[in-house]
Amino acid sequence: MSFQLEVLPHRDWADSIADLWAERLSDSPGLTMCLATGSTPKPVYRAIAGHADLSGTKVFLLDEFGLEPGDPARCDVMLGDMLLSRLEVPPALEKLNPQAANLDAECDRYSQAIARDGLSLVILGLGTNGHLGLNEPGSGYDSTTRVVALADETMAGLSSYGTTSTTSWGMTIGLAEILSSDEAWLLVSGEHKAQILRQTLIGPVDPSVPASFLRMHSNVIVWVDEAASSQLV
Ligand code: PGA
Repeated sequence: MSFQLEVLPHRDWADSIADLWAERLSDSPGLTMCLATGSTPKPVYRAIAGHADLSGTKVFLLDEFGLEPGDPARCDVMLGDMLLSRLEVPPALEKLNPQAANLDAECDRYSQAIARDGLSLVILGLGTNGHLGLNEPGSGYDSTTRVVALADETMAGLSSYGTTSTTSWGMTIGLAEILSSDEAWLLVSGEHKAQILRQTLIGPVDPSVPASFLRMHSNVIVWVDEAASSQLV
């Protein structure tokens, strides 16, 4: 139970993450990754698109909202804008389909694909309520890919992704699948994440802060900018 904490000035934060990511890609050009969307990884994805080849990799999208295809808050749309459209040759992409006729079967399909391929590197953001993906407070460390009800904070945050739509549900990879990865990176930036980061790293390992379960993983890097680190001392 340990993690490596990297606290960086905001101006270096994204480039430092992208540099190590580029090293991982150069060591393993066929890396299988699971990627978050949202606001946090945006500068990191911009940076990696500029200097690494992802053409031989496979990407599992971490989660998806129960929104119509093409909605700006859809995770697949965000990943397209932030990363895929910036690459000459995109990776192979696996994603959850919230329009599937049988959502439980769709989650099982995804879970099985993850079990088959394995996740070498998972890149995560941190919700202000401590969620990882859409593993909202109350999620167990043994949870797998499933349909979930969104927490109020998550629903309220949807508009920050440029949508006027709303939804009360989503689909997410579970904490068990995140914990099964070879390596996980938690990306945290901004003063508004300082309190929940403290709870994640220093509070109890507990379903009330699902991100705290990352402390059960043996290979985690927590990438923090100075503002987000302000409550760690
Ligand atoms: P954000 O979201 O990067 O948009 O702050 C993180 C999350 O909710 O996981």
